[in-house]
Amino acid sequence: MKLIAWLFLGMAAAWAHDAHGRSTAPPEALRLTNPLAPGQRDAALAARLYEQHCGGCHGVDGRSMTPLAGKLKVRPTNLANYLMESMKDGEIYWVVTHGIGASMPAFHQLPDDQRWQLVGHVRALRAQQRAIEKARLGSYDWKLPPGFPLPNVPPDNPMTAAKVTLGRHLFYDQRLSLNQTQSCASCHKQELAFTDGRPRGIGSTKEKHPRGSMSLANMAYTPILTWANPNLRRLETQALAPLFGDHPVELGMAGKEDLMAERLKADARYRKMFAEAFPEQPEPFNLANITKAIASFERTLLSGDSPFDRYRNGDDANAITPAAKRGEALFFSERLECFHCHGGFNLTGSVDYLDKGFVEVEFHNTGLYRHYETPNTGLEEFTHDEEDNGKFRAPTLRNIAVTAPYMHDGSVATLEAAVDHYAKGGRGGDHPAKSEFIKSFDLTAQEKRDLVEFLRSLTDQTFLRNPQFGNPWPPAKTTATQRPTGQKGSTR
Ligand code: HEC
Ligand code: HEC
Ligand code: HEC
Repeated sequence: MKLIAWLFLGMAAAWAHDAHGRSTAPPEALRLTNPLAPGQRDAALAARLYEQHCGGCHGVDGRSMTPLAGKLKVRPTNLANYLMESMKDGEIYWVVTHGIGASMPAFHQLPDDQRWQLVGHVRALRAQQRAIEKARLGSYDWKLPPGFPLPNVPPDNPMTAAKVTLGRHLFYDQRLSLNQTQSCASCHKQELAFTDGRPRGIGSTKEKHPRGSMSLANMAYTPILTWANPNLRRLETQALAPLFGDHPVELGMAGKEDLMAERLKADARYRKMFAEAFPEQPEPFNLANITKAIASFERTLLSGDSPFDRYRNGDDANAITPAAKRGEALFFSERLECFHCHGGFNLTGSVDYLDKGFVEVEFHNTGLYRHYETPNTGLEEFTHDEEDNGKFRAPTLRNIAVTAPYMHDGSVATLEAAVDHYAKGGRGGDHPAKSEFIKSFDLTAQEKRDLVEFLRSLTDQTFLRNPQFGNPWPPAKTTATQRPTGQKGSTR
């Protein structure tokens, strides 16, 4: 038993230490470019140099799973990890030349051109790994934002363009609600990063949901869905909740699977789309296919083109204002602690991607209430453990400026008020389950403005406007049975 626990921890540690990316090299390293012309780059020589000088720690495949790696105080960076994509050539060169502290040796004694050959090989290690991952994902053309890893797609629902098209039509189709007044898009509107602007959702029968609608940005990387349900792990399964749930009623289709299939089948456009999405199935109008298609569409909703992304990728040093840069420093400081729960490429603590190995899932009590009452007890609702009272998933902060009001129950109206809540160490005061990272801090008025400006720099206009994510239905005539669903003027 003890051994198993130890092994598990050892593995977790190995996976937890990915690349540090650009944190170690100074800004001037960014300006260095590889002086070797393509003709002077020698892959065989580079591989030899790498094996001789680096392989013992980083491994021939770059994944740093060597016996020596496990013995070092600091685990060598996984050079095949996606995070290496955001490191520039000059930064790798810098690290090879100067080393990092006591853990990564400096190689300034090697001739300059050999160090650049090594940079080429480090690049090749990630390129090889990426090709392996891409092959596993199939032929679908993912338009991944720079710096994003490849997503983890369930093997029984590989992505295809035809499924995405079908899923997009379903997502915007009011025929998916019993009384034909709502679609998924009624509560997940693109211009609001797929939230609905309400404190809490309102279903097709006007029943109020206990919690607020959530952004659908980067669902492809979200290992646990909704505010606090640890059992909802797949988009394919999640879609059943709004369709068939009756606590509360959202689309109100409980017991009406056949009616839904009949409605869709009556539309010639769907007969074509279902046939194209599931070509091997003679009778494709079923629930499993409906949820697979919706999930495929949701996985395309990628957001990674905010001003902060452009700034952080090193593409545009002036993409965010000096105030936002000061806010960034506050956000990532031990004084404010925000990054512990809203970190990484998706600014959240719960993330999964292809070959991650160790899926991170976290729930936290942020001290919003002194005691959280039913139906919003958070994780406790599922574990029945009092220690989980008030624990929720930290949502991504991408596009946070357009998704007000905030928190699971919409009880925080503005970003300023959200910051105030944290500055007080949780507006609800002390709760026995409150996270250790939620502690009060003093902010000057200027610092508060800076932090909010940083949060505003996370808005991705490309995502909010991308026509690929919008309502695909033509604004046609409406008839009682064949509503073209979900466009302007309809009840959402
Ligand atoms: C003695 C073991 C060892 C050897 C040999 C070694 N490294 Fe490292 N390397 C490390 C460790 C440990 C780290 C992580 C350091 C840290 O995170 O503080 C690292 C980090 C790196 C990084 C990532 C820096 C970052 O900012 O994330 C690169 C790139 C790198 N090594 C390349 C190389 C190359 C190329 C060679 C061979 C020329 C090499 N290393 C040889 C131990 C080693
Ligand atoms: C009545 C409004 C409403 C409708 C209609 C609706 N949703 Fe939601 N959605 C919500 C609410 C509220 C939540 C949060 C649920 C919770 O925590 O219990 C949510 C959460 C989600 C999540 C989880 C997001 C995350 O970050 O974990 C996904 C995915 C989702 N909805 C997809 C859909 C799909 C697909 C449809 C159509 C089949 C749909 N929704 C219809 C209100 C709605
Ligand atoms: C201990 C982990 C943790 C820390 C630290 C933390 N947050 Fe949160 N954050 C959460 C959780 C969990 C939620 C959802 C809470 C809820 O709904 O009850 C949340 C929600 C939010 C929301 C609202 C999100 C939405 O979609 O409604 C904002 C904005 C936010 N946090 C900003 C920050 C800022 C700024 C900081 C630093 C001052 C910070 N957070 C620190 C865990 C954390």
